[in-house]
Amino acid sequence: MTTTRPRAVLIGPPGSGKSTVARALAHALDLPSRDTDTDVEHTAGKPIHEIFVDDGEPAFRELERRAVSTALTEHPGVLALGGGAVLDAGTQDALQQYRADGGTVVFLDVTLTHAAPRVGFNQSRPLLVGNPRAQWQALMNARRPLYEQLADITVLTDDKHPQQVAAHLTDHL
Ligand code: S3P
Repeated sequence: MTTTRPRAVLIGPPGSGKSTVARALAHALDLPSRDTDTDVEHTAGKPIHEIFVDDGEPAFRELERRAVSTALTEHPGVLALGGGAVLDAGTQDALQQYRADGGTVVFLDVTLTHAAPRVGFNQSRPLLVGNPRAQWQALMNARRPLYEQLADITVLTDDKHPQQVAAHLTDHL
């Protein structure tokens, strides 16, 4: 069996620009881009917020873990992970193995001020209900150590256009 690993894997919180940067970077590298949120939605046959409502977060996380595991062995381009994918211990191990095999994990960092307008904070964000700005900041505070620990490269995307982030990354891949 042959395995193909992604050229780069993007991690970071909602609103950091993972999917948009993945597309821009993949385009620059003439490779395909892929997004595990989309993979999960295809598998489940419904949008993520419906998976959370109908089946619960643990069911979503299991679908996500499998989507990440599959994409890490078969996607040849740029892979964007859902913001919470790094919470799973199996995914953490898989990312460490991917790095040990020569892959590059990129943490797209962002501050709340810049993430908020990108996220939009609407009902399609199941973890950002009630006070979405406070929820986002709490998620980011809890996850930052994981994002930092798992990344080879960190880019603060606050004031940068996705094309600028992609251009910066092409110099480092
Ligand atoms: C989540 C982030 C979302 C999506 C789901 C859970 C999270 O992806 O996977 O709503 O736990 O942060 P994005 O980071 O692409 O918005």
